[in-house]
Amino acid sequence: MRKGLIVGALGLALSGVLIGSVAIAQGDPIAQRKDNRKQAGAQMKAIKAVVEAKGPASAVVPAAAKLKELQVAFPKMFPPGSDKGDTKALPVVWTDKAGFEAANKAEGVAIDELAAAAGSGDMAKVAAAFVNVGKACGNCHEKFRAK
Ligand code: HEC
Repeated sequence: MRKGLIVGALGLALSGVLIGSVAIAQGDPIAQRKDNRKQAGAQMKAIKAVVEAKGPASAVVPAAAKLKELQVAFPKMFPPGSDKGDTKALPVVWTDKAGFEAANKAEGVAIDELAAAAGSGDMAKVAAAFVNVGKACGNCHEKFRAK
């Protein structure tokens, strides 16, 4: 009886979590893209810690793969109409779609180089590639994100 209640409550809590993430995935592109970038920020922080500790380069491999996954998904999260609301994306994201996609691609190229550097095991290369990824983040924010 008691066990049933607890299991029931757990089930409810779990479905709440599921419904929450489905809402993020489907209904709210602004929340979805902010979440995407938050995750990118977390990966960058993790990589920075490895760079500061001077290794191991192998620890950067999964982080770079995750960054890549996030980068590929990101530009699809700006459907028409999602310029309104609690967002810092500037109107130029929609008026200069080609420029926005180029900035996203540049981020992807920098991440590929970071992944290659991580795979090579050479921490000097990893450190340099990490700086370039950071620049690619900043270049896009400069033009496409409100301060
Ligand atoms: C192609 C353009 C572009 C690139 C590249 C880019 N960002 Fe952003 N970023 C944006 C835009 C646009 C927003 C604002 C999203 C919004 O508020 O709807 C944003 C928002 C953010 C936010 C705030 C999220 C929040 O909670 O509101 C963080 C953190 C962030 N970016 C980190 C990064 C990091 C780290 C990188 C590089 C690994 C990066 N971004 C690369 C365009 C970009």
